[in-house]
Amino acid sequence: MLKKNNHIPVLLKEVIKFLKIKENGIYIDCTFGLGGHSKHILKKIGKNGYLYAIDKDPISTKFAKQIKNKNFMFINDSFKNLIFHTNKLNITKKVNGILLDLGFSNNQIKDKERGFSFMLNGPLDMRFNQTTGKSAKDWINESDEKEIFKIIKKFGQEKFAKKIAKSIVNYRKKKKIVNTLELSKIIKKNVNIKNRKKNPATKTFQAIRIHINKELKCIKKILKDSLKILSNGGRLLIISFNSLEDKIIKNFMKKNSKNVEIPNKLPITNKEIEYLNSKKKLKLLKKILPSKKEINKNIKSRSAILRIAELK
Ligand SMILES: C[S@@+](CC[C@H](N)C(=O)[O-])C[C@H]1O[C@@H](n2cnc3c(N)ncnc32)[C@H](O)[C@@H]1O
Repeated sequence: MLKKNNHIPVLLKEVIKFLKIKENGIYIDCTFGLGGHSKHILKKIGKNGYLYAIDKDPISTKFAKQIKNKNFMFINDSFKNLIFHTNKLNITKKVNGILLDLGFSNNQIKDKERGFSFMLNGPLDMRFNQTTGKSAKDWINESDEKEIFKIIKKFGQEKFAKKIAKSIVNYRKKKKIVNTLELSKIIKKNVNIKNRKKNPATKTFQAIRIHINKELKCIKKILKDSLKILSNGGRLLIISFNSLEDKIIKNFMKKNSKNVEIPNKLPITNKEIEYLNSKKKLKLLKKILPSKKEINKNIKSRSAILRIAELK
């Protein structure tokens, strides 16, 4: 379904400001979605600049086709493979800015056929690319109780993971779980909703989505590769929406902004220490949260955290 009327890109002003777009620079939007950020980046790029955009969801290809600009190219793939593409395009080490706006788009959550929403009834799917990998339906009907518990606990940090996993396996003895609302109801019965501000299914759905799309693995891979892809002074901007993602990003940026730690008694010369510390590192620039005004306009932005670093 190609709906895009009410899409508002998160932290747009801040992203444009901190990408510090040069007219002749090369930029990569790793989560094109509906092109919300990309379109604004393109406005700042001159005829010698270039924007590459990537998204795992084939639907994004249709949105990308609407952009008629010869300084723009879309790639339908996971950003975990970005370095393969930058090598092929001969732009590795030449990129001035990389943007990631993680999670799912409005378009994806509002399309009940995608199975991301616990509010709309649709087939349990949750894949960013429905043409590959295991759907949430297959995973939830095939996995044992221990595995279901582990995923809900680890990626949802759900207190009631054990009860939910048990209930899922019991329900399956009668019938397969095929729809989002079916799963949502099972979860609700097992979550004590006192003190819960969010829908009781929020954490479990998040956990299954992260697992199905191997989201955290993809983030770790792009973080590592970004150090090889960016040029000196190139910027990395990442918007995350949950504490699991943010912790990975924060720790990575912190770790790569420090000098290499050399154990005391190691037989190593000052020159060698100098060399190790001259290896490319990040300069931490900023952490930005959305303003109250933005949250009022776009409730989805309320949990967003933008972290910015620059390659030294
Ligand atoms: C929040 S949306 C991006 C919205 C976009 N910034 C805009 O303003 O239109 C996140 C996008 O990331 C994509 N995505 C998630 N994981 C991905 C991955 N590993 N590789 C590529 N795209 C991914 C999703 O398909 C989704 O379109």
